[in-house]
Amino acid sequence: MRQRKIITALLSTAALIFIIGSCKHEIPGLSGNGNVTTVGNTTDPCDPDKIYFEQQVLPILVSNCAQSGCHDNASRKEGVVLTSYGSVINTGGVNPGDAGGSKLYKLIVTTNKDNRMPPSPSVALTQQQINLIYNWIQQGAQNLICQDFCDSNTYSYNGAIKTIVQNKCQGCHSGTSAGGGIDLSTYTGVKTTVTNGKLWGSINQLPGYSSMPKNGARLSVCEITQFKKWMDAGSPNN
Ligand code: HEC
Repeated sequence: MRQRKIITALLSTAALIFIIGSCKHEIPGLSGNGNVTTVGNTTDPCDPDKIYFEQQVLPILVSNCAQSGCHDNASRKEGVVLTSYGSVINTGGVNPGDAGGSKLYKLIVTTNKDNRMPPSPSVALTQQQINLIYNWIQQGAQNLICQDFCDSNTYSYNGAIKTIVQNKCQGCHSGTSAGGGIDLSTYTGVKTTVTNGKLWGSINQLPGYSSMPKNGARLSVCEITQFKKWMDAGSPNN
């Protein structure tokens, strides 16, 4: 009898939590560290002077260079694949310690419009992205990883969301060839996908949505939490 009462109490608490929880954005199927991988050298806490390949460099390459027809695993244009640490090192023309002597770096900074990567009509990488790649190569093009890279307590548009979108999405989602016709290069563009539910569905890889970032690692639990908190706050332009 007593046991049944306890079970009933537990069940109704669970139901209540479920009802309350489902009013907000829930992060389905995620536990642990999300896309944090175990390859490479983990250094904790994160060193602000070091460049972390998986978190900082790879997403830029995937979203700007690994589109279909370019440097994804299937297309391998000119033999170059930019989808993982191994493929970048083996095929990307990286000379560790010597950015100026690295084809990868030379092609993103060249002012020769015919050679520049990503090619027109795609826009050039931002100076900040170019600096990151430069510093990564100068530091020896290592595969460093640190766990506490992202802080889920920071979740404003300008403090977190915009940077994630810029580095992990915008290469495919801007300009005339924007993926799915979706332009994420402005706040308004991002907000539209929040309102129609597609942003949440795609980054959580929910049924009925295309999984994003396409061809890239799923966003980490921390990054998805930043989106969740920002969206729960009404996704302001803050
Ligand atoms: C490598 C290119 C690429 C990257 C990187 C990418 N997308 Fe996409 N995205 C596409 C393409 C192409 C489509 C059109 C649908 C399809 O082909 O899957 C699309 C579709 C979408 C859609 C519509 C999904 C639907 O089911 O209707 C949303 C929302 C979206 N992307 C958001 C994002 C966000 C947010 C990121 C970054 C976290 C991102 N994308 C990264 C290429 C990309």
